[in-house]
Amino acid sequence: MSGQILEVSGLKKRYGAVEVLHGLDFAVAAGERVALMGPSGSGKSTLLNCLSGIERWEAGSIVIDGFDLGTADRGGLERLRREAIGYIFQAFHLLPTLSAYENVELPGQLIGMLAAERGERVAELLEAVGLSHRAGHRPDALSGGERQRVALARAIMHRPRLILADEPTGSLDSRAGAQVLDLLKQLSQDHGIALLLVTHDPATTEICDRTVHMRDGRIQEAP
Ligand SMILES: Nc1ncnc2c1ncn2[C@@H]1O[C@H](COP(=O)(O)OP(=O)(O)O)[C@@H](O)[C@H]1O
Ligand SMILES: [Mg+2]
Repeated sequence: MSGQILEVSGLKKRYGAVEVLHGLDFAVAAGERVALMGPSGSGKSTLLNCLSGIERWEAGSIVIDGFDLGTADRGGLERLRREAIGYIFQAFHLLPTLSAYENVELPGQLIGMLAAERGERVAELLEAVGLSHRAGHRPDALSGGERQRVALARAIMHRPRLILADEPTGSLDSRAGAQVLDLLKQLSQDHGIALLLVTHDPATTEICDRTVHMRDGRIQEAP
């Protein structure tokens, strides 16, 4: 195995006649934290959607944890999404009818984790994000920062090796954002999880090992 958790080569994607990714090459090493920056419209979300198997692409390859997304069938993609990858979104995407505890527990249920192990792990993760005392609250009873910390615990519940995040601090004030970033870094370090964080926020780049810049559907080489 190479030391890469993610390898993208020659990736091209178009919508109708318009090509929006023009042949991207980049890789993320196991446990590495990478910030992805670029002006609006440069293709960051499109790239993340390809990496998460939501969008198909026209040319090039994506390999995650040794698994070639291009040749995967629906079942294989679904397994990869459930097992190897964790997701964090700007708008949290927690299920509104479930408590914090149940939201974190869900990915464990999806991969068939046993109830006793789930219970232990949810308790441990809520403790790690400082929300043990909020376990029974639904998302609408939590602050933005608390919701994103629940989302963080949920993203690592199933022990992924890679977290993909689109603007994880984009909905938070700077104090709540800083807390989420500290936690992301800590969890990445403690569990060897690689991060690919799309961001406009310079504070996010500070918890990363390096920053990749995108413009007009291309990766810009470092100056
Ligand atoms: N579903 C879609 N259909 C057509 N064009 C799209 C679609 N999604 C994104 N685009 C176009 O692709 C380009 C890249 O968009 P996006 O990946 O959202 O950029 P970013 O996340 O960097 O702001 C933009 O020109 C956008 O208009
Ligand atoms: Mg975007």
